[in-house]
Amino acid sequence: MIEVKNLQLSIGRRLILQDINFTLEEEQNLIILGRSGSGKTVLIKSLMGFYTPDQGIVRVDGADVYSGKNHTQSDHKHDFAMVFQNAALLDSFTVFQNVALPLYERGEKDYASVLDKVKRSLAVVGLEETLEKYPSELSGGMRKRVGIARALIYEPRYMIFDEPVSGLDPITSSEVLYYITQIIRSVQATTITITHDIRNLGDIGDRVLFLEDGRSLYYGPLKDMYKEEHPLIRKFLVQVA
Ligand SMILES: Nc1ncnc2c1ncn2[C@@H]1O[C@H](COP(=O)(O)OP(=O)(O)OP(=O)(O)O)[C@@H](O)[C@H]1O
Ligand SMILES: [Mg+2]
Repeated sequence: MIEVKNLQLSIGRRLILQDINFTLEEEQNLIILGRSGSGKTVLIKSLMGFYTPDQGIVRVDGADVYSGKNHTQSDHKHDFAMVFQNAALLDSFTVFQNVALPLYERGEKDYASVLDKVKRSLAVVGLEETLEKYPSELSGGMRKRVGIARALIYEPRYMIFDEPVSGLDPITSSEVLYYITQIIRSVQATTITITHDIRNLGDIGDRVLFLEDGRSLYYGPLKDMYKEEHPLIRKFLVQVA
C-alpha cells in the first residue's frame, strides 16, 4: 500500500509539488493525468525516495520513505519497477542482456533460470524472437515493449509506467497499451500509470489523480471526474473524447 499525505516538495528553491494526497491499496491501479511540467514524474520518483520533501508523508507498506535524516529509500526502491518515459535501454546490450539486467543486479547467477525468465517476460509483450537483437535494430514501439518486459522480470510489487506510449503513433500506442492492460490484469501488482490515454487505459484505473502546477485538481474515480466543473478538466475531457 502507498500512502501520500500532504506532500510538499521543492527542488532547489522551486516549489514543485504541493498538498498532494492519495492512497493506493494493494493491487489497485492509479492513473496520473496532467499537462507537461505539472509534476507527474517528480511525484512518482518521490515515492522511490529520489528527493527530500519539504513536508508530508510518503509511506510504502507502512514504512516512511523519508523518515528523519536516514531516510530508508534504498529499502523500498527494489519493490518498484519503473518503465521510463524514454525506453532507457542500453544500446550496446542485446535485448536479452537488457531484460536480464535487473536479475543480475539482484545477484541471480543461474543462466538457465535467467534465460527462462527473460523469455517468459518477453513473451508477455510478444517479443520472444528479439533476444539477440540490439535496441538499434528495433522500432520505437518494440523498444518500449522491451522496457516493459525488463520492468516485469522480477515480479515487482509496484509497477510504474511513465507515459509508456509517448511519441508513438496511435496504432502502435494502442498495441503497447494492450500489453500493459494485459499485464495489469494478470500480474498481482499495484500500478501507477502516467498517461493521457484514458480511452485505452481508463477501465483499468481504480483512481485518477489530475495534477496541475504541482497541485491536485482532482482525485477520485474516473467516472466522477466527468462531473467536475473545473475548466482544465473539462478541456482535457473534451480533447481526449
Ligand atoms: N531535477 C530537477 N531540477 C529542477 N527542476 C526540476 C527537476 N526535475 C523536474 N523539475 C521541474 O519540476 C516540474 C515538474 O516536472 P516533471 O518532470 O514532474 O513534469 P511532468 O508532469 O512529468 O511533465 P511531462 O509530461 O513533460 O513529462 C517542472 O517544472 C520541471 O522543470
Ligand atoms: Mg514526466
